[in-house]
Amino acid sequence: MTRARPTVTKPDAAAPPIPEDLVAGTEDLYRDPVLYDFEFRDRTADVAFYRRLTEETGAGRIAELGAGSGRVTEALLATSAHVLAVDRMPPMLAALEARAAAKGVADRLRTAHADLRAVPAPDASFDLVVSPFNVLMHLYTHRDLRDGFAEAHRLLAPGGRFAFDVELPDPEWLSWDPDVRHSITPFVHPATGERLVYSTNHTYDPATQICHIRIYYDRPGRGHGLIHPHRPPRRPVAVFHLAHRMIHPEEIRLLAEITGFAIERHDGGFDGEPLASGCASQVVVCRKAGGRRP
Ligand SMILES: C[S@@+](CC[C@H](N)C(=O)[O-])C[C@H]1O[C@@H](n2cnc3c(N)ncnc32)[C@H](O)[C@@H]1O
Repeated sequence: MTRARPTVTKPDAAAPPIPEDLVAGTEDLYRDPVLYDFEFRDRTADVAFYRRLTEETGAGRIAELGAGSGRVTEALLATSAHVLAVDRMPPMLAALEARAAAKGVADRLRTAHADLRAVPAPDASFDLVVSPFNVLMHLYTHRDLRDGFAEAHRLLAPGGRFAFDVELPDPEWLSWDPDVRHSITPFVHPATGERLVYSTNHTYDPATQICHIRIYYDRPGRGHGLIHPHRPPRRPVAVFHLAHRMIHPEEIRLLAEITGFAIERHDGGFDGEPLASGCASQVVVCRKAGGRRP
């Protein structure tokens, strides 16, 4: 088994720290990679999309920003590309390294424990920068987002591409009653074997554009094992906070323009669906424009 060559870096060394009230919302979901992989095991269209993009562009050097547990990294490494996987959560990076080692592709992987706004790699050293599955929604202010785009631009060779996907803000969903639970799903914890019930609710702050999602893990109720959406148990086994900054399509267009990218695709799905009301994701591919950055 080959192991990845880690680039040990202090996260946030050159990037502003996450505000204290957003730390849990940036970390809770990423402390348990086994549970993370279990929860998103059916999400495959994005993995196929990023692999296709790698093959279509012939990218040999890829930086993946917010690579997590390597769900997408594994597909990138399945091409002949070399990948630098960047993430600020050590448990996710450890899972990613183990996954690459198990597949025997770790010799083409480097990992960096770093903030995506301060990646320890030289300028213009990648053909493709990707940031799959809502990573950029953890950049909470317009400055954080601008710095994330600017870092992707710095890392890319001329003509290189930056591809990412984020949710399409849904005003109806954002306005749901913050006290009512939804997505109520019984499951067995993949590591502990504990029977639990998953549910969520959320509160949206329109001033910051941040949606504070609460993910509850409760013990099953009696009978069918579900919990009541309006009268859930008082003491959940665990509650995770997930803070997601909504990024509107016109913000993406502006961010791309001010950081020196030309947008090639801005779709409503991974198979080229037009961006329209009802789409869950915005899928963006932009190209590092020639000349000096504006
Ligand atoms: C929803 S997960 C996506 C992981 C992976 N890209 C995937 O598709 O499964 C978001 C990841 O982004 C990482 N992340 C969030 N903010 C970050 C930042 N500022 N710098 C580096 N990584 C970050 C988190 O630690 C987490 O692993």
